[in-house]
Amino acid sequence: MTTRKAMLTIGKGKKIRDLPVYKGTEGPEVIDITALYKESGLFTYDPGYMSTASCESSITYVDGEKGILRYRGYDVTELAGKSNFMEVCYLLLNGELPDKKESELFIAEIKNRSMVHEQLLFLYRGFPRFSHPMAIMCGAFASLSAFYHDSLDIHDEKQRNNAALRMIAKTPTLAAMAYKYSIGKPFNYPRNELDYTTNFLHMLFAVPSEDYKVNKVLAKAMDTIFILHADHEQNASTSTVRLAGSSGANPFACISAGIASLWGPAHGGANEAVINMLEEIGDVKNIPKFIKKAKGKDDPFRLMGFGHRVYKNYDPRVFLLKDTCHKVLAELGMLNNSLLKIAVKLEEIALTDKYFIERNLYPNVDFYSGIIYKAMGIPSNMFTVIFTIARTIGWIAQWKEMIEDPKLKIGRPRQLYTGHKLRKYVSIGKRK
Ligand code: CMC
Repeated sequence: MTTRKAMLTIGKGKKIRDLPVYKGTEGPEVIDITALYKESGLFTYDPGYMSTASCESSITYVDGEKGILRYRGYDVTELAGKSNFMEVCYLLLNGELPDKKESELFIAEIKNRSMVHEQLLFLYRGFPRFSHPMAIMCGAFASLSAFYHDSLDIHDEKQRNNAALRMIAKTPTLAAMAYKYSIGKPFNYPRNELDYTTNFLHMLFAVPSEDYKVNKVLAKAMDTIFILHADHEQNASTSTVRLAGSSGANPFACISAGIASLWGPAHGGANEAVINMLEEIGDVKNIPKFIKKAKGKDDPFRLMGFGHRVYKNYDPRVFLLKDTCHKVLAELGMLNNSLLKIAVKLEEIALTDKYFIERNLYPNVDFYSGIIYKAMGIPSNMFTVIFTIARTIGWIAQWKEMIEDPKLKIGRPRQLYTGHKLRKYVSIGKRK
């Protein structure tokens, strides 16, 4: 990382000298304002972090103008085409692709940890059947810290690694259990002869009363989806994980906080919202009405699966997801699917509409994934849970990077206070 100095002039002639400016390997330079308050008595104000880098990281690079997404320097579309999710997990966690021996060992380490403590079944049974599976995922993840006391010491490298492997291994099991619980069917134990993604689909769809063979095209599609969702640098959920972890909280609790943040419809919850929207549109002929609604200044409705804080160009993941969507629907004999027709037409109309063009609003990663899940027979309340399985590795890699950074400080933003100045307490009988 190279450095130069910058000078900030505030108002008439107040100069803050020698603010360090860092240049990373890619992306815009950043001004280090750590000393600003001490030097000037001023805070900066940047709600939504529009211009603020919250940390230094070497994991994922996004260029929203050019539509680039890379994990540890590798283009995500190349990884999705040539690699597999387990390899991508290793890469994100360790910084390099594994050799054959490392890969086999990593896969074995994950498989060895894929079951959850039997006692956890009782936690699941405490939830009402109608619970949203994301509510169960938040609770189940946080509860792991009650089961695995031997991986809570964040200062012990071995324990950190053990926690990381446990979480990658157990997420699909916890996710499939959340689904099975919601439909009143028995939980499936993981099958170690299956690969990570096939095992997840098996736990999701198999029943103990008969054999179930996972369709290879669907397994490949899910693996691609996992790769494409594995990390996305400092988004809301990842920043939540980092902020929670900066206080020294245990990793299971931190990832649970990330799951809570991911659940929101402006973030990972959007894929569920896309399907709800496509179903509400119902027919290609109704699209113009919804486009008009999305553009209405006073209408809170937004085209779900459109727009992104960082991508002001096509989200590079969308091409692959659209292609995967076609492959899955072809395999299932569903190419005539009405939701796909509505989605394709909606994309076409929005991309030629002045409102969307002027604001650089393109389809995002959530636009096609829901159609794939629905075609596979996965209910919409499980969509964000699948995002959780994929993103767990990203959260863990980012959490680990932060904990291992000697410059780590507890995250503590400042504020622009606009409340009352000092007031005197008035007893209840004398209040107006
Ligand atoms: N439909 C209609 N108008 C939109 C949309 C949309 N989907 N997204 C943004 N706009 C408009 C917005 O109203 C604003 O217009 P104006 O300048 O007239 O006020 C302008 O575009 C800029 O939007 P913004 O809200 O300032 O942008 P943001 O960076 O704060 O928000 C976003 C990004 C993703 C939250 C937003 O685009 C959105 O709500 N999209 C729909 C939800 C969605 O698909 N979320 C998934 C995001 S990608 C996956 C993930 O992060 O997990």
